[in-house]
Amino acid sequence: MKEMLLRGAEEGYAVGQFNLNNLEFTQAILQAAEEEQAPVILGVSEAYIPYMGGLEFITGMVKSLVQHYGITVPVALHLDHGSTYDVCIRALRAGFTSVMIDASHHSLEENIDITGRVTDAAHVLDASVEAELGRIVGREDDLVVDDAEGMYAVPEECLRLVRETGIDCLAPALGSVHGPYRGQPKLGYARMGEIRQLTGLPLVLHGGSGLPDDEIRQAIKLGTAKINVNTDNQAAFTQAIRGFLAEHPDAYDPRNYLIPARKAIQESVKAKIRLFGSSGKAKREV
Ligand code: 13P
Repeated sequence: MKEMLLRGAEEGYAVGQFNLNNLEFTQAILQAAEEEQAPVILGVSEAYIPYMGGLEFITGMVKSLVQHYGITVPVALHLDHGSTYDVCIRALRAGFTSVMIDASHHSLEENIDITGRVTDAAHVLDASVEAELGRIVGREDDLVVDDAEGMYAVPEECLRLVRETGIDCLAPALGSVHGPYRGQPKLGYARMGEIRQLTGLPLVLHGGSGLPDDEIRQAIKLGTAKINVNTDNQAAFTQAIRGFLAEHPDAYDPRNYLIPARKAIQESVKAKIRLFGSSGKAKREV
C-alpha cells in the first residue's frame, strides 16, 4: 500500500479504499479495478471480520478471486480501523498487506505507543501502517462518535505521531464523517495542507461517500492519496435490491437480485476510481 500511496501523492491522484461487506462486494470491487486498470485497496473493518467468517477466510476469498478473475492490477488487503495491537497482528498473520491502527480515542502518548508497536511489527513483514489523529465524526462501525468529540487533528501532534512511530500514511480528522453527511460537509483544507507539509506523508480521507466532487479534488491536490468509500457502495447495492424486489415481489432466487446489485457496486466503484484519478495507474508509464 505504501508504494501505491507514495506514487499517488507524487502524481496527484488518490487510490480508493473500498470496504468489503461480503462476497459480492469483493467480486465487484476487484472487477471494477481491473476494468479501470487502477490499483485498489480492499478495506475490511474490524466489525466485519466475524460477519465475513474470520480473517483467514477473508484472505482466502480475496486470493481465490484474484486468481479466478486473473486480476493484474495491484491489490492491497487492508484492516480498516483496527482498535488494538492484537487485531492488527492477527490481520498481518492472516496475510493482510496493511493495517490501520486507530488509537485516536486514546491520549497522544498512548496513541504513539500502540501505533509504534504495530508499525515495528508490520514493517518486519513488509506491510504498511495507517494511523489516525483527531476524531472522525459519525459511525465507525459499532462505535458512534458524537459530534462534540469530532475534533480536528492538531498539526504538531501529527508530526510527533509520524516522527515517533514511522507510520506510512496518516488519517487526520478534518471534518469528514463516516456514513451520510448531515448538512453541508466542511473540510479543514488549510490544516490538511499544513499537515501534509509538516509530515510529508500521503494523507488518508475517511468518509469519502457523499462528498461533492470538488471537495474530493481539492483534498487530492493537498496531498490526499487514499480515499475510503463504503456507504455509497452499500447504498447502490441496497437500492438495486430494493428496486428489483419492488418490481418482482415473488422473486426468491438470490441470484436474481444479487447480480444487478453486484453490478451496481461495480459501477459505483468505477465512477469513484475515475474521480480519484487512479484510472490507468496500475502500471507505470515507461
Ligand atoms: P463512508 O462509509 O462514509 O464512505 O466511509 C468509509 C470509511 O471511511 C471507512 O473507513
